Amino acid sequence: MRKKIVAGNWKMNGTQEEGQKLTSEIVNMVKDERVSDVTVVLNPPFVHASNVKKLIGGVDNIFLGGQNCSDKASGAYTGETSASILASFGAAYVIIGHSERREYFAESNEQLTEKVKLALENGLIPIFCCGEPLEIREAGTHEEYVKDQLTESLFGLSEADFAKIVVAYEPIWAIGTGKTASSDQAQDMHAAIRAHLASKYGQEIANGTSILYGGSCKPDNAQEIFSKPDVDGGLIGGASLKSRDFVDIIKSF
Ligand code: G3P
Repeated sequence: MRKKIVAGNWKMNGTQEEGQKLTSEIVNMVKDERVSDVTVVLNPPFVHASNVKKLIGGVDNIFLGGQNCSDKASGAYTGETSASILASFGAAYVIIGHSERREYFAESNEQLTEKVKLALENGLIPIFCCGEPLEIREAGTHEEYVKDQLTESLFGLSEADFAKIVVAYEPIWAIGTGKTASSDQAQDMHAAIRAHLASKYGQEIANGTSILYGGSCKPDNAQEIFSKPDVDGGLIGGASLKSRDFVDIIKSF
């Protein structure tokens, strides 16, 4: 049975005080409302890591995650954070290949392959992002586009390593736009992704891979999206910055 996962990507948001308040509210809601069957991942800016980890405490279904990690193991890379440093602060997951990093930091498929490798070597679970821009969707070549992203960055992994991966499908045209993919559009792409994974790693591993949807997922659309057979949860941006909305999304299964 694959995991149901809801990850909150805070992006570049949250002062120390705001992060403290948001994390405390989410942790208390998850505990008080007995939300135990969903894996919750909080992905704050790196500087929040220690405090968020401390506030999560012993709640066993909430985890700290990073928004990125370097494609270098360590060394003179000013401003970067390595997978090993993330892991040392108690992170369990790391987002890799988010479209904003691919766009603004020109992250190549080769760099992403190295990031995934370093994350796995340091015991982190990669949340590997894929998704097409609007012009590709409009051209109708979105399935090939996404399959290529997965092939080029992930398909060099062993079966044992690939089985640890979480995939997040985030149509770029739905990120931060309020224009959400329909639940059928999400299901169609998730099914295509799962079939592509099966073609490389076999049906058992493909069936065990959690595939998350991201792109304007909100409390009022999460239930329909999460009801689809190949949608295993969400990677949430804006709505993860509001504790009530984020926990309502977590409860949408
Ligand atoms: O990583 C999740 C993010 O890209 C989605 O953002 O604000 O559309 O939920 P948002």
